Amino acid sequence: MRKILVTGGLGYVGCVLVEELLKQGYFVNVIDLGIYGINLNKNKNLKLFIGDIRDQKLFQESVKGCDTVIHLACISNDPSFDLNPELGKSINLDAFRPIVEISKKEGVSRFVYASSSSVYGIKDEENVDETFSLEPLTDYSKYKAECEKILKEYQSPNFTTTILRPATVCGYSPRQRFDLVVNILTNLAYNRGSISVFGGTQLRPNIHIKDMVNAYLQIIQTSEHKINGQTFNVGFQNMPVLEIANLVKNSFKRNINISIEETDDNRSYHISSKKIENQLNFKIKYTVDDAIKDIIESFEKKKFKNSLENENYFNIKKMNSINLK
Ligand SMILES: NC(=O)c1ccc[n+]([C@@H]2O[C@H](COP(=O)([O-])OP(=O)(O)OC[C@H]3O[C@@H](n4cnc5c(N)ncnc54)[C@H](O)[C@@H]3O)[C@@H](O)[C@H]2O)c1
Repeated sequence: MRKILVTGGLGYVGCVLVEELLKQGYFVNVIDLGIYGINLNKNKNLKLFIGDIRDQKLFQESVKGCDTVIHLACISNDPSFDLNPELGKSINLDAFRPIVEISKKEGVSRFVYASSSSVYGIKDEENVDETFSLEPLTDYSKYKAECEKILKEYQSPNFTTTILRPATVCGYSPRQRFDLVVNILTNLAYNRGSISVFGGTQLRPNIHIKDMVNAYLQIIQTSEHKINGQTFNVGFQNMPVLEIANLVKNSFKRNINISIEETDDNRSYHISSKKIENQLNFKIKYTVDDAIKDIIESFEKKKFKNSLENENYFNIKKMNSINLK
């Protein structure tokens, strides 16, 4: 059976992905700082390396014996990146080339990189597909785009490289994030009974966390020739923020108040994910509505503690408090 290294395997997407890989019988190594806690069940096929991907010796240990790397670890949103751009660059960009080189040297044959659909920047066109130019607007997105280029330098018949550009992920994870649009609005509605929407007409592309995990699984299970050197958008519903707010509102029996505030930030993002659907027959199974319902159910089951304040749910709060160097 194959052995997969998931960097950032204790993060929001990572811990759902790792549980699924283990369920499907893979051996899994995880390298992660562990700053959000260890939200994984014990499993004899799971090996944890708690530490920094910038530590090349530790990274090398963690990748030994693995045939596949799924690279998720990074400072994963604009505000936490901007908190300390030097730190962000050291993790999101400078660590990348050594990670790829060490992986290749250790005999890894597939490398999957979690980029972001934010690499496109703002486009007027309706369906932004993988052929569009990259015009990243922030350092976080700019370094995602740079890592994509670096990875391509190492692609070969024996080293299959694949880049995924995910939309904004939504839904429940044992390491919950409440700093992503659908999750934010659901948290506010549940706990405050009211949502403020800034503008509201801006489009946001979304993807359910279980579909995101299925996309990673499908990539590692697809023959090399279909995915080697390829880049895929992974998104589903491009929705105006106000429509997301209304979906949230309609998921509650009680009244949820929506107030619309003025904003001068009317940036719209929208992507097309036809390529992964057409070329790999990837099928979306879950909706934004499912994500909202899953989060509400998790609230009902008391799975979250102090969800409006707890730093474990907000990357910026966590990065602020740990003072990582
Ligand atoms: N969540 C989204 O909406 C979304 C959208 C597009 C792309 N992505 C990308 O998908 C990936 C996963 O996102 P996520 O939402 O799970 O993020 P996350 O912040 O929940 O997880 C990132 C994980 O990486 C770890 N990490 C950070 N720096 C590290 C370091 N130096 N060494 C070791 N571990 C480190 C953190 O501890 C965390 O567990 C990221 O690369 C992100 O940029 C996410």
